[in-house]
Amino acid sequence: MVKWLENAVFYEIYPQSFYDTNGDGIGDLQGIIEKLDYIKSIGCNALWINPCFDSPFQDAGYDVRDYYKIAPRYGTNDDAKHLFDEVHKRDMHVLLDLVPGHTSIEHEWFKQSAKAEKNEYTDRFIWTSNVWQYPTNIRLISGLFERDGNAVINFFSSQPALNYGYYEPRAEWEQPMDAPGPKATLEEMKRIMAFWLDMGCDGFRVDMAASLVKNDEQRIGVTKLWHNVRAFLDEKFPQAVLVSEWGEPHESLNAGFHMDFLLHFGESHYTNLYHEKGAYFSKDATLDSAAFIKTYKSYMEKTAGKGYICLPTGNHDMVRLSNFVDAAGQKLAFAFQMSMPGCPFIYYGDEIAMNYQQLVNKEGGYFRTGSRTPMQWNNEKNFGFSSAEAEMLYLPTDPSENAPCVAAQENDPDSMLNTVRDLIAIRKANPALQNGGSVTFLTEGGYPLVYLRENAGQRILVLVNPSADAVTYKTDLVGEKIYEFGTVSYENGAYHIGAQSAAFIVL
Ligand code: NOJ
Repeated sequence: MVKWLENAVFYEIYPQSFYDTNGDGIGDLQGIIEKLDYIKSIGCNALWINPCFDSPFQDAGYDVRDYYKIAPRYGTNDDAKHLFDEVHKRDMHVLLDLVPGHTSIEHEWFKQSAKAEKNEYTDRFIWTSNVWQYPTNIRLISGLFERDGNAVINFFSSQPALNYGYYEPRAEWEQPMDAPGPKATLEEMKRIMAFWLDMGCDGFRVDMAASLVKNDEQRIGVTKLWHNVRAFLDEKFPQAVLVSEWGEPHESLNAGFHMDFLLHFGESHYTNLYHEKGAYFSKDATLDSAAFIKTYKSYMEKTAGKGYICLPTGNHDMVRLSNFVDAAGQKLAFAFQMSMPGCPFIYYGDEIAMNYQQLVNKEGGYFRTGSRTPMQWNNEKNFGFSSAEAEMLYLPTDPSENAPCVAAQENDPDSMLNTVRDLIAIRKANPALQNGGSVTFLTEGGYPLVYLRENAGQRILVLVNPSADAVTYKTDLVGEKIYEFGTVSYENGAYHIGAQSAAFIVL
């Protein structure tokens, strides 16, 4: 495990919407630099920046046109280098977003690959043999190119799949992983990683990491591929961190990733807790924690000692947290997150409870667009996000009367912002709460949620009651209360936990 990860708390930045320093209505790298001290003040010591590479932005930058160039709207490669330096000066770290599964249709490799005449990039993407023959169970771009074939897509139809080969080739156009085309794609991806690592970034969040090898239901081929990447990194950049968008930590950590996100799709059930209507952490809950706990326990058993499971407060692909749980519920969700093992990720703006907006699609965001609005810094023009006229902004700001902002919360000790700060400070001060400790669930459904964290000789009991009713929990585990939200007391052999309350007890 890379040492700094043991105590890392990440902050995810959607660069479009964070802070605009040149008045064009869109965030930039210089804006991130200027807000590093703020991020550090929350207690976050690491960043994940959504793709900031040259792109036509049909999927907000997840459609890369040039992997080696910062998108001009965010700045230059020199600005990126400056950002890495400023991050490190503050003893922080930064991960870029690597999109290895697909490019934009505007990428030069794809333009070359779409030509009839054979060239260096002919096999950089996956093409069927001709436009007339194709399977109906995969999505294709068809009939737009000189080349006689259909290009396989990985996500939107502007995102052709890069060719890393097929674990089990079944059709004549499906190339094995060790064919020259797939091998060249992988070597190029490693060159791209080396380029940014050499410049000073600390690693990558890897987009759709499990999607690279096709016909690979058991993910055997893709595991081999990532072992190859890890061996390369271990030799040249042993400190380079990889976190996967995979959602099956027992697979991804075996493939060589340090950490994996629980995702809003798949089997993890973590959205049941605070990211769905009727979520367990909401006052009017209809969902329980049991399914999450069962899956989480099995993930923890299967990944013991291999890396971290990451629980995000939200991300750029989800409706914001504040849409599902009220203010007290959000504070409890943070108390839960900051007392769980693994590496926590805070989505920009969740620390001040920014609202989800109903907005029309921007840059392929669709429903996600409403979670990508400008960061609200203060109550001045455009909430201090940009000096541009409102119509020029990347997305409109929150029109609601009580729209939250950083400045208004700074001096209120009970604000969401200061609650998050307190919780991160407590996490950092107590070994049992840190990323590597163990967790034992003492309840596995219903209210309260009770678990024991243990690490480096310290034991902390966490009690969380997100429900609208007070509850009791019988136990003889007593000790010093180091955190309390709402009311939690111990009497006659039981904890009495008020409605929407939580406590951390050092045993
Ligand atoms: C996952 C990213 O988080 C999402 O924003 C993007 O649209 C898809 N992958 C495609 O790259």
